[in-house]
Order: sequence, then C-alpha cells, then structure tokens
Amino acid sequence: MDSLQTIKQRFGIIGNNTNLNRALEKAIQVAPTDISVLVIGESGVGKEFVPKIIHNQSHRKHNAYIAVNCGAIPEGTIDSELFGHEKGAFTGATQTRKGYFEVADGGTIFLDEVGELPLSTQVRLLRILESGEFMKVGSSEIQKTNVRVVAATNVKLKEAIEKGKFREDLYYRLNTIQIDLPPLRDRKEDINLLFRKFASDFASKYRMPHIELSPEAANYIANYPWPGNIRQLRNFAEQVSVVEKERVISHEKITQLLPLSNMMPTVTKNADGTKTDFMERELLFKVLLDMKKDLNDLRALTLDLIKTKDVNDFNGNTQELIQRVYNEKPAEESTTLPSVNIFRQEQTPTPPTFSQPTYDYSDDVYDVSPIEEPESLSLQENEREMIKLALEKHRGKRKLAADELGISERTLYRKIKQYHL
Ligand SMILES: Nc1ncnc2c1ncn2[C@@H]1O[C@H](COP(=O)(O)OP(=O)(O)O)[C@@H](O)[C@H]1O
Ligand SMILES: [Mg+2]
Repeated sequence: MDSLQTIKQRFGIIGNNTNLNRALEKAIQVAPTDISVLVIGESGVGKEFVPKIIHNQSHRKHNAYIAVNCGAIPEGTIDSELFGHEKGAFTGATQTRKGYFEVADGGTIFLDEVGELPLSTQVRLLRILESGEFMKVGSSEIQKTNVRVVAATNVKLKEAIEKGKFREDLYYRLNTIQIDLPPLRDRKEDINLLFRKFASDFASKYRMPHIELSPEAANYIANYPWPGNIRQLRNFAEQVSVVEKERVISHEKITQLLPLSNMMPTVTKNADGTKTDFMERELLFKVLLDMKKDLNDLRALTLDLIKTKDVNDFNGNTQELIQRVYNEKPAEESTTLPSVNIFRQEQTPTPPTFSQPTYDYSDDVYDVSPIEEPESLSLQENEREMIKLALEKHRGKRKLAADELGISERTLYRKIKQYHL
C-alpha cells in the first residue's frame, strides 16, 4: 500500500485539505478489497481520481480499468455497451460483441454519473453486483464476470431515488463504502495552490510567462465560490494564461474576470469579527431570504402532512400543531418576500434589486481581503449575525425585524435572549 503523498504525486493531485486527505486515505484503505464504492461530490471536484487510485492499489491493477460515463451513452445502446450483445440482437448487430463487464473481467469498472442509468439497466447492474451474473442483449445464456465496481454521482442521487428514477436497492448495493469529495469552496486553503499549479502547467504548454496574482487577487479567488469547482478553476487558469497581456493580475482585474454578481454568495466576515460592509450585508440578506423561502416551503409541507393525516393521530391537537407550524402566520402572507433595502442611503440612493445586482467594485466599499477563518462561521453564528443585522436595520423594532426574518416575534425574542443580543 503506497502512502498518501506517493499517491498524490503519482496522480498529480494537489491540495492538503483534511477532508480531501480523508477521502483519499479511505480510497487507499478500501482498495485491496472488492467492496463497491460510491464517490459523491459536485461536478469538477476530482471524483475520477478515486476509482483510479482504487484500481492502482488493488490486486486487479494488471487487469483492465474501464471508465464509463453513463450520462454520455444513449439509452438505446447502453445495455449493449455494458453487457454486450448477440449477433442479430437488433438491427445493425452484425456480430456478437463483448460488453465492458466482460472485457473488464478481473479488473475494475468506473461508472461515472451512475444516476443517469436507465431503470432497466439498473436492474442488470444490480444483478451483476449481487451475483456476478449477466446476459448479453439478445441472449438467454447466463455469463459470469468478476468486476470491481466504483460508481460516482453528483449530490443529487438522493433526489433521483425520491423521484423513483434510481433504485434504492441499487443505491445501497453501490454505497457499501461512500467517499465524499469536498467542493472547492470548502477547501479554500487549496485554491491558490491549485491555481499556481495550473498557471505553471499552462505557462509551459503555451510557452508564455507565468500568470501571477496580486495578494488581493489571490485572496479574492480563495473566497470565490467556484460552483464548477476544480474544473472551473483549471479552465479559468487556462483562459487567463492565454488571454491576459498583463501577467500580474490585480484585484480590479480579477473582479472583472470573476464577477460575483451572478453568484450565490458565500457569507464572509471581517477580520475584526464585527463590522460587515455593505456588500456583505446584501449577501447576508440574500441568504436570509433564501432561508425564509425554505422555511415557508417546509411549513406548507408540514401543514399538508398534518391535514392529510387522521385528526385522531394527534389526539385532537391538530389545531395546535397547525399553529405551531405556522407560528401564528398564514402561508399566503408569509410567502410574499419583503422588499429589502439594506444599502446605506448615502452610497446608493436608488438601491438595485437582488435580481439585477449592480456592484461597484471600483470604490473600496467591497473588500474581500479581511476575510478570515470562514470555517469558524457556524450556522449559529450566521443566525446570530442575521438577527443582529435585522434588528439594526429596523432600529430594534422586533416586530419588523421578525417579519423580515420570517420568524415569529416570540421566536425572535427567544433568539435575542439566547444570543444575548
Ligand atoms: N486535487 C486536484 N489536483 C489537481 N487537479 C485536480 C484535482 N481535482 C480535480 N482536478 C482536475 O479537475 C478536473 C475535473 O476533475 P474530475 O475528476 O473530472 O471531476 P468530476 O469527475 O468530479 O466532475 C480534471 O481535469 C482533474 O484533473
Ligand atoms: Mg467526471
């Protein structure tokens, strides 16, 4: 068994984030077994390294490794690709063909985007996982194969199960061991390491001088949300390496190249831990509104559940439950979001709305540099911060603050006491 460092070097994996290391360690650890592994993570987080490591560190390493992108193969041909077909099984099947599961006998198959498999294929896959048995398309002869399966999915597989698009039994079968890869925004310490690596790769590839980031620009990318994760960062590094004449990227330049305006915000906090600037306020309130919407959805759902249940299930307390769910507020009212004006008057007399944010990066109102230890911002701290902001905004008027937060005055009162506000 090779060490984590050796593996990282061999595969060119950059980063020292604890959760990344834990995921890779887990891959190394389970490699010698034949247990199925499910890799979960957003698009672009580096899921493909996991099956490669597992294959490389297993007794199967001298046999075939086949990576299949389940989302890229048309539904009509996927069974034939995976399990093979008999001559004459369908028009165009002029000869018998082996599928990946037969070719990879003794080796490893990586099923990427496994959530995209059609239900009929999922049945065949479950059978192979349980017994090693399969049949070619158009054949009734049972064949055997010995393949280790590593599958990957984005975080939406649970949703697919709920919608009946992915078999739950297959999910549990694939998920004997689960390896989670963190999104890049949760690995802030690795972002500049990765950027430097990519910048250096592209500098040699295109024979151009290195791109460098000013300290402010480096700080900016470390706090950028990177929804496309490492793939996006890599493409960005390539684009900048090829296009930018000025090889040192300033703060102003980076904000043009990577505008935050159409991004879901990451909540940030100043170095002194107290002051939040106007940009951050806007972001906080956006998060707040999203949370409020979620809360209202949840209320409606719970109410629905209560209504459809027998009243006796609650020993006659239905009314009380409804009250509690709604916190004395009818859904119709609470689903209309309040208009929020959180801009300082002197700066923006006509505040832009959230749907069309227009941030002015040229003045120094927005400064990402003081962001520190964002990991320490727990949910509670965020909540406290939001409540504080809402109270400040409404100059301590609890009723208004509670309305804006989408909670009852009573809840707000409790929170104020809890957080010693
Ligand atoms: N830790 C990392 N170090 C270096 N490159 C990485 C790392 N993680 C991902 N990459 C690169 O990012 C790109 C996307 O990775 P990939 O495994 O295809 O993502 P996913 O399968 O999760 O969508 C690939 O070019 C990969 O080499
Ligand atoms: Mg991939």
